[in-house]
Amino acid sequence: MFLKNCWYVAAWDHEVLADNLLQRTLLGESVLLYRTEDGKPVAMDNRCCHRHAPLHMGRKEGDCVRCMYHGLKYDSSGKCIEIPGQDVIPPKFGQRVYPTVQLRRWIWIWMGDPEKADESLIPNTFAMEHPDWRWSPSYLLYKSNYLYICDNLLDFSHLSYVHEKTLGGSPNIAESRPEVTRLPRGVRVSRPVRNTVPAPYHMRLGSFPGEVDRWFKYDFVVPGVLILDSGLKSSGLADDDFSDALCFQSCQALTPETETSTHYFFMLAHGFRLDDAVVTESVTQSQRAAFIEDKTMIEAQQQMIDNSPAKPMMPIACDLGLTQFRRVLQEMMDAEGAAASPSTDASGAGPMRVLHISKETT
Ligand code: FES
Ligand SMILES: [Fe+2]
Repeated sequence: MFLKNCWYVAAWDHEVLADNLLQRTLLGESVLLYRTEDGKPVAMDNRCCHRHAPLHMGRKEGDCVRCMYHGLKYDSSGKCIEIPGQDVIPPKFGQRVYPTVQLRRWIWIWMGDPEKADESLIPNTFAMEHPDWRWSPSYLLYKSNYLYICDNLLDFSHLSYVHEKTLGGSPNIAESRPEVTRLPRGVRVSRPVRNTVPAPYHMRLGSFPGEVDRWFKYDFVVPGVLILDSGLKSSGLADDDFSDALCFQSCQALTPETETSTHYFFMLAHGFRLDDAVVTESVTQSQRAAFIEDKTMIEAQQQMIDNSPAKPMMPIACDLGLTQFRRVLQEMMDAEGAAASPSTDASGAGPMRVLHISKETT
């Protein structure tokens, strides 16, 4: 159903506080998130092994958590270390604990084979800890399959239409052709848009008397992490002249909650007027307002698909990025499926096909 051997964003670091027990459904599994006394995040199966009460309704005791139904206590490795009224603890009593890493404000979780949890595979979201960038964190919960949001992020032509009055401002973005190259774990997209107009939200941040050149360069890697370099400057300046440029960096991560709902963690950083908190707030609210435009469109799209799931989609040229990404994802899922269950399907299709658009656009 989902790629398992991969790092997903489970939470913003500020969502998991020293004393709280946070429940979050990730890839269809209810997960308990909390911190040990030294601040290390723990992600544990939230379903108590005794009678399946949720552990997030339990009590944190030092580095341990106690289920507040009948009192079983688990340490941070998931081992059951106390059963009230019973001296012997069967060795199989315990909770699954997932590998986690806190890095640059995100708490990452690995829900596949723990032996394969390689921290070097975590995408480089450098702007989230770099002093040259200012930003605030944001989050939305979508009622749609996460792949439809991946599709959206892999094709910025929609900025011209969905975001006409926010991030877009002109049909020029949809009219430009992106360059898409494949990466080992995703795709790289570059879309320069020359001799165009600033986006409506740029008007609040700078002044450009004439035409501008805009750029969007990003990597989009599995499971659904976007690292974007974008901005604009007056047309006609030399390539290395950024004297009037507005430069942005954005990091965004999609984590399936279920087959039909998705956690969306995102930020947009500005690299100018760093000490102006009003700019940070304006940029953050502009991105959030635009992402609610996406959410409205994609949730409506999901409803249409649910109404007639068998109807084919018709590919167009701008689907190139999403088609390539889905191919990467499918290959990784096929490899995982083959490893987990070598004889799933004689046709080779396996049990975990990425949604039908991949067939229609390839
Ligand atoms: S359900 Fe947790 S202790 Fe009984
Ligand atoms: Fe969008």
